[in-house]
Amino acid sequence: MTDSWQDHLVIRPQYPLGASARSDDTVTFALKRSTVTMKRLDVGVRAALLALDTGSATGWISIGDLVRAARGPYSEADIDRLVLEVGRLYARGALAVAVHDAGQIVCELVSNSSLGGFGLELHDSATRYRLSRFAIIRRMDRELWAESLVASACLRIHSAELGAVITALHEPAEETDVVGSVWPKAASVLRACLRLMAAGGIIAPVDEDGLLPEDREPALATRDPHDVLLHNHSRRGLSPLPVGATFRHASVVPPLPALRPPWPGERIPLPRPDPHRLARTDMPVSVAMERRTSSREWADQPLNVEDLGELLYRVFRVRHLVARDPADPHSYEVSMRPLPSAGAAHDLEVYVAAGRVTQVGRGLFHFDPLQHTLTEVTTDPQTLSMILGSAQHSAAATAEPPVVLVLASRFARLSWKYEGMAYAATLKNVGVAYNALYLATTAMGLAGCALGTGDAIAFATATGIKPYVESPVGEFMIGPVRI
Ligand SMILES: Cc1cc2nc3c(=O)[nH]c(=O)nc-3n(C[C@H](O)[C@H](O)[C@H](O)COP(=O)(O)O)c2cc1C
Repeated sequence: MTDSWQDHLVIRPQYPLGASARSDDTVTFALKRSTVTMKRLDVGVRAALLALDTGSATGWISIGDLVRAARGPYSEADIDRLVLEVGRLYARGALAVAVHDAGQIVCELVSNSSLGGFGLELHDSATRYRLSRFAIIRRMDRELWAESLVASACLRIHSAELGAVITALHEPAEETDVVGSVWPKAASVLRACLRLMAAGGIIAPVDEDGLLPEDREPALATRDPHDVLLHNHSRRGLSPLPVGATFRHASVVPPLPALRPPWPGERIPLPRPDPHRLARTDMPVSVAMERRTSSREWADQPLNVEDLGELLYRVFRVRHLVARDPADPHSYEVSMRPLPSAGAAHDLEVYVAAGRVTQVGRGLFHFDPLQHTLTEVTTDPQTLSMILGSAQHSAAATAEPPVVLVLASRFARLSWKYEGMAYAATLKNVGVAYNALYLATTAMGLAGCALGTGDAIAFATATGIKPYVESPVGEFMIGPVRI
């Protein structure tokens, strides 16, 4: 018997599939979350699908055996239909597809999402393959994972040689280019691996220009893989990992306190507005929403410290703290503020990059939302000019903004609780803060403008904080209106 790649590619039901044949041309699978009935099957495909569940002593069945199970009762069995139906079961997470060699699993493909695809090329041809831009390779505990963000599949790699094949495929290559160079095992095993990786979107056949179908599809060609990665892992149904409030670090590290430890610098008390006056004189929300606009020009005079104090008070102040319940391992200290925040975590620290503010020197200050004070972080002119200059550049403004509010996330406030979606929650919190700042600056007659990005190096230099500990995720320019 020849050594065919089809005998190395095996299907592993993830649990008993509850297959039953209710009529001559159907098969019904009672899966964990749904019942799937496949209709109008020829007798061969029907027999092969039933064989999937009865399986074998090893718990898997090879594609070769499956094809033979179909062609036994009916030599004209529709093998493409068989592969299609296997793909449907795989996408629902009922099957994994693996490559085995001498009793060892070389790699295994599992579906991350019922939205994913599975296209197995059965016919042999001299195909040139290339690594997808959307394949993310990383260590997951003791395994190597290659994840396709587009086909929603995860390849668990158990062979160092296959890792070398994947890296070799950054350039288009045929199977024969790889066999003998980075692949020491049988060519039929590699052939099965290539088929499986192509079915899971880790690699794809290239055209004569060396391009993959994803390079020709505008919706994918214009996407950054890291954007797709963040999206997939922050939404349920697209990720192989849990997404949500799983508190997976609760038993490992204590939660961060609601407020960051105070900076050691000198404190400047900020004026507070009179809340009764605001309640009497403020413009209605509907008016503020209608008048709101982004303004990138400021009057020549500095921003009044009273306005700075009022704005920070309106938007970011702590109304009260809620202590952690020591009896509840999922409890953590929270603060309640005018702003909502994911899990009341309020991960966003507010830093004031002050260029021109009355009674406040030029410098970077941290806002204490409980004491309503500014604490000096640095007055280094160079880093401050970098922060203000970066804002001016982002807004294509003709002058340096009087103030840039820098929103820096204490990421661990969110990642202690949330899995997968912590960074997405930070960015949503930034959006919430931006809108509150826009409405409050409008109500106060100040010029305000949100910014899309800022200078991470300037902030890290100014504060000495590592970007993965506390890092700017939003910037908002404010100043007096230019009339
Ligand atoms: C998330 C976000 C990022 C923004 N980034 C910038 C920016 O980097 N530079 C800038 O000049 N304006 C920025 N803006 C302001 C938008 O350009 C502005 O809202 C848009 O042009 C509509 O104008 P309007 O705000 O006056 O209605 C941003 C706004 C938002 C909400």
